Amino acid sequence: MKLETLQSIRERRSIRAYRPEQISREELDTVLEAGTWAPTGMGRQSPKMVAVQDPETIALLSRLNARVLGSDTDPFYGAPTAVVVFADPEVPTWLEDGSLVMGTLLLAAHAAGLGSCWIHRARQVFETAEGKALMKRWGIPDRFVGVGHCILGYAAGEAPQPKPRKADYIVRD
Ligand SMILES: Cc1cc2nc3c(=O)[nH]c(=O)nc-3n(C[C@H](O)[C@H](O)[C@H](O)COP(=O)(O)O)c2cc1C
Repeated sequence: MKLETLQSIRERRSIRAYRPEQISREELDTVLEAGTWAPTGMGRQSPKMVAVQDPETIALLSRLNARVLGSDTDPFYGAPTAVVVFADPEVPTWLEDGSLVMGTLLLAAHAAGLGSCWIHRARQVFETAEGKALMKRWGIPDRFVGVGHCILGYAAGEAPQPKPRKADYIVRD
């Protein structure tokens, strides 16, 4: 049994406070490469990941996200890196494919010693004119849909305690 993998799955937490230092190129590459190994329907590899580290673009993504949320706090919690996952709605399994890439990035980040969190509202952000302009800059086809942002960085402080798992999570026939 791959006990290390199971432990990593159990111990990953959503991190909501980050140190300002940027993660290393190697750490980012490790997480991105893991994302490419997520299973996809019929092996089509339909999602796309955009790695963003430029502080101005991170700030823009955060502002667009906050606007959808109707909040004036930073929905990215000061994380210095974000990976935006897009999926192709022409592929029947687009949402499952994109979500599994997100999950794989989160797990890989934890295994690589990084903090991470799924930040939502990518769909709405990339329906706006500003979001569409970013997609154009990144060469993402206009029809693609934002699935999520995986923020990455070094955790500031301890990871939060998880809620206990609900009693009726598992049903056995
Ligand atoms: C689809 C989805 C959307 C999420 N969106 C956000 C978000 O916008 N902001 C946030 O702080 N956490 C977000 N999260 C993280 C969840 O709140 C978190 O996974 C949950 O509370 C369980 O905590 P854990 O990840 O530490 O186990 C999201 C998670 C998922 C799966």
